[in-house]
Amino acid sequence: MKILIIGGGGREYGIAKKLLEDERVEKLYCLPGNGGMEEFAECFPIKATDLDGVCSFCESHPVDFAVVTPDDPLAMGMADRLRAMGIPCFGPSKAAARIEASKVFSKRLMEKYGIPTAGAASFDSLESALSYVNENEPPMVVKADGLALGKGVFICRTRGEAESAVRELMENRLFGESGSRILIEEFLEGPEVSVLSFTDGKTIVPMVSSMDHKTVGEGGSGPNTGGMGVIAPNPFYTEDIAKTCMERIFLPTIRAMEAEGCPFSGCLYFGLMITKDGPKVIEYNCRFGDPEAQTVLPLMETSLLCAMLACENGDLHETEIRFSDKAAANVVLASGGYPGSYKKGLPISIGPLPAGVHPVHAGTKRAEGGFITAGGRVMNVVAVAETLEEAVEKAYEGAKNIVWENVYMRRDIGRTALECIKGE
Ligand code: AMP
Ligand code: GLY
Repeated sequence: MKILIIGGGGREYGIAKKLLEDERVEKLYCLPGNGGMEEFAECFPIKATDLDGVCSFCESHPVDFAVVTPDDPLAMGMADRLRAMGIPCFGPSKAAARIEASKVFSKRLMEKYGIPTAGAASFDSLESALSYVNENEPPMVVKADGLALGKGVFICRTRGEAESAVRELMENRLFGESGSRILIEEFLEGPEVSVLSFTDGKTIVPMVSSMDHKTVGEGGSGPNTGGMGVIAPNPFYTEDIAKTCMERIFLPTIRAMEAEGCPFSGCLYFGLMITKDGPKVIEYNCRFGDPEAQTVLPLMETSLLCAMLACENGDLHETEIRFSDKAAANVVLASGGYPGSYKKGLPISIGPLPAGVHPVHAGTKRAEGGFITAGGRVMNVVAVAETLEEAVEKAYEGAKNIVWENVYMRRDIGRTALECIKGE
């Protein structure tokens, strides 16, 4: 089969590598891909958000199946366009992608179908949002309705902070139209868990749980990023909690989407918080997480291609999907300065990595004699081992051998999870 992957980060690298384990995959095209992906795929400089460009590529190349992973092309209707051309694909329709693209849509869905989440009010005028802030007790969480590169969420400890967040989004339009509507949410507390799942709209199969580390600084300090590291499985996600999530969150969500006339197929990502009142949904994503995908997929023992085809063909109920009971850790190597400004074009030195450790390219470009940096999150070091402790240790061991000027990594990936395992 000839497969097209749309996107070009560490997540797409991880998905591509996993797909290649299935011998039916004879060719991979990536739009735009990245430097590392060029080693095993044909990459073309067409942006993931260039719907017309992608469609005309498909007219001149024999694509049997497309995998659309980033949020913005999905929200723009990339999967619908490809299906209309007769190309089957992995990824939800534009209508189903609203589960991520509109936080007001997903909040109303959860409220209507009784899916546990933080209480919230939505606003489309600045005045009403500001008077709500004045009448309610902080802390509160202010969220842009639309996509905002994962940066449209403000945790506000005081009314003053909440007021400036509201003004940034609605008045200054920090994220453009994404701030024309906002949500103000109850502040929840508890450990966070990411659960990625395969679904064909009727059956849902969760993957191994994981824990992202979103802030740039250690111990949750500094601004949020796309994710600085992941461990899997997440020890806070016990069997009991998994059972509750399946009954109260996962199945009700796909049934709700079906009832609303927009069944979801593809990867549905549940961002959960384990509160003292049980697990609640913090956010849905309509796609694999990055860097969750490239951490969780190495633990998958069955074919990713089979799972993806089953999501599109509606036969997930009869498809075997199995994960190993090993552990994985992923340490993200970023450009110094990220998520603020940083240098690009720096040569990367990649030394030998320990057994069980592999590099993932995220923001790299090929250059004479090797690779150079080309983004904020440049590479990931992923380790798989019998225990989480060993996986974390090996990932850091490997990270020492990937170097460029001013490379930055968090040193505490997995620390909270290991403390949980040790009962601290
Ligand atoms: P989101 O982009 O919606 O996942 O939010 C980014 C991060 O903000 C989450 O991973 C949480 O750490 C935090 N967050 C979002 N909503 C809430 C909430 N209602 N209460 C507490 N923290 C939240
Ligand atoms: N790592 C979080 C996300 O992909 O949204």
